[in-house]
Amino acid sequence: MTNSRGALVLLPGRVLRFRDTGSILLAVRPPKDFFQPLAAGAPQPLREIPVRPSRMIHFFPPSNAKMVAKVPAIVPTVDILLGNLEDGVPSNEKEAARNGLVEVGRNVDMGDTQLWTRVNSLESPWCLDDITTLVTQIGSKLDVIMLPKVEGPEDIHYADRLIAQLEAKAGLHKPIMVHAILETARGVANVESICGASPRMQGVSLGPADLAANRRMKTTRVGGGHPDYVVQGDAPLDPDGAPDIHADRARSQQDLWHYTIARMVDACVMHGILPFYGPFGDIADTVACEAQFRNAYLLGCVGAWTLHPKQIVVAKHVFSPRPEDVAHAQRVIDAMGDGTGAIMLDGKMEDDASVKQCHVVVELAKSLAARDSELAARYGF
Ligand code: GLV
Ligand code: MG
Repeated sequence: MTNSRGALVLLPGRVLRFRDTGSILLAVRPPKDFFQPLAAGAPQPLREIPVRPSRMIHFFPPSNAKMVAKVPAIVPTVDILLGNLEDGVPSNEKEAARNGLVEVGRNVDMGDTQLWTRVNSLESPWCLDDITTLVTQIGSKLDVIMLPKVEGPEDIHYADRLIAQLEAKAGLHKPIMVHAILETARGVANVESICGASPRMQGVSLGPADLAANRRMKTTRVGGGHPDYVVQGDAPLDPDGAPDIHADRARSQQDLWHYTIARMVDACVMHGILPFYGPFGDIADTVACEAQFRNAYLLGCVGAWTLHPKQIVVAKHVFSPRPEDVAHAQRVIDAMGDGTGAIMLDGKMEDDASVKQCHVVVELAKSLAARDSELAARYGF
């Protein structure tokens, strides 16, 4: 049924607004209600996502007693520790993983490290019990619930209300945030509305493995580049002036994930939430891992997933600005005075816009240094 303006009317007073060609319908709560709790007694939704060091989301399987025993030693080395209940945990260990995470939440002192979980996907037989158990048992310890395979805002709306009901039941005072993994084509197509679906939305991660499968991409790697995804330089000319297509010529491998990361970053920034690169499966190749993380860092991501202690070192290195970059940024800020106008510094033009770029670097360095005295010393703060 449509009203006189052509908008689709669902219920009296409830309108689904058309966006673009009409192929996407977006149901939005009125602005005045957006920050109201979704259940009586649930905590007030956050108006801003807290910015905390988030250089790595370190995954561990809570069903594995050996790994759980290492958790207290890992906690001080990471910004975010995530108990993974989804892919990678065999179906016969799902309950053990859930219970293992409850034990970690109850018994491990997290200091100022964030505790997150990745629950099973919404259509799985485990998701409801994952969310119910974790929110009611360790809700006050849990910062973020990562939802895999999010396809559209309706997935966030479902989780949003469910979590609010459970928060109310558990008497929580601080809302638990939600992080979506972008790992289906429909999820990518809907990324802007996913990011804006709830004040609970904390951020989004690229999930390159599931996304590649869902898109029918022909890579079998977990993240990273592919040697076949290249741009070929022009062929040199032979003595007759014809292109010698078989001659050696430059080839440059391209980043398979560039489009998705850039789109994810824009969607996140538009909604004031945080973008992350996901997994890099070739654990031994820390050099390629560093390159992939660095591309994501340069494009605006705040961190990446780490699956092994080797990758923690890489993420810490990449997602902390280099001391020389911080020093340069500070120099530009100092030289720009009140931040307006244009100056020449070392032969380069700096102005109101470039000083803003410099503030991004210095503010990140300061927020990381506040928690890391070694970094503070390297930055000279
Ligand atoms: C992560 O979950 C991925 O599918 O890459
Ligand atoms: Mg996945």
